[in-house]
Amino acid sequence: MKVIAFYNLKGGVGKTASAVNLSYLAAAAGYKVLLWDLDPQGSSSFYFQTNGLTVKNAAKKLLQQDIVLTDVIQPTAFVNIDVVPADMSARQADIILDTTKQSKKRVKQLLQQVTNYDIVILDAPPGISLLHDNIFTAADWVLMPNIPTTLSIRSYEMVISYFEEQGYDTNRIKCFFSMVDHRKNLHHEVMQQFYKQKIFFKSYIPYLSDIEKMGVHQQALFEYANTSYAAQCYRDLWNEIEKHCIKA
Ligand SMILES: Nc1ncnc2c1ncn2[C@@H]1O[C@H](COP(=O)(O)OP(=O)(O)O)[C@@H](O)[C@H]1O
Ligand SMILES: [Mg+2]
Repeated sequence: MKVIAFYNLKGGVGKTASAVNLSYLAAAAGYKVLLWDLDPQGSSSFYFQTNGLTVKNAAKKLLQQDIVLTDVIQPTAFVNIDVVPADMSARQADIILDTTKQSKKRVKQLLQQVTNYDIVILDAPPGISLLHDNIFTAADWVLMPNIPTTLSIRSYEMVISYFEEQGYDTNRIKCFFSMVDHRKNLHHEVMQQFYKQKIFFKSYIPYLSDIEKMGVHQQALFEYANTSYAAQCYRDLWNEIEKHCIKA
């Protein structure tokens, strides 16, 4: 079972769009996927149209180990994709974790309870906190979408420094460019500069209205634009991820 987190210090960079579309492609390739929506905003749960959680304050109870992951896993319309829906009590994750023993290992311990998945995808909220330490500890791979702008790149460098400070293996981080606007020179320049670093996948996701429309359709991109350029870009990225993070 491989655990892949979509993460960035910054919000609005395409973490959730990637987590949802890549879960879909992984499932279509035959892998059994669990998507765990750790962002209290609940966007990936929304895209998979999961029913609300039947357990109240599920995130709080999970982190306190009052319940197990299988108590909250929900099926989706797709055979190979199950979801742990988001829950507003995840807002207090850091306060809850702070009071628990082995506070950086809770998410990893919870994932050890499930064995029937090939891939677990974590849709992380933005930020760096104790919850993120949990995500970094549990994940085999931390995949970071980056908009090719100065500020986004700065946040990527901060994450690398944080990994080094905390003694996490930076080789587990891979980045890809997201929301790329071909009309902007800055985007081209930043991409040229950073492609020299092996940490970036060659495939990238452009800024495309077909992707933006996921919210309108409340679905993964492939359900309504399977033959689009956007769909092809995600497929190229998935192929790289599968080769580098799943099969290697
Ligand atoms: N490549 C893209 N092109 C156009 N819009 C995008 C793209 N990726 C994401 N979006 C839109 O931008 C917003 C933020 O994306 P989201 O994936 O939710 O970011 P994050 O999870 O990092 O906060 C959403 O409305 C989403 O539909
Ligand atoms: Mg998100």
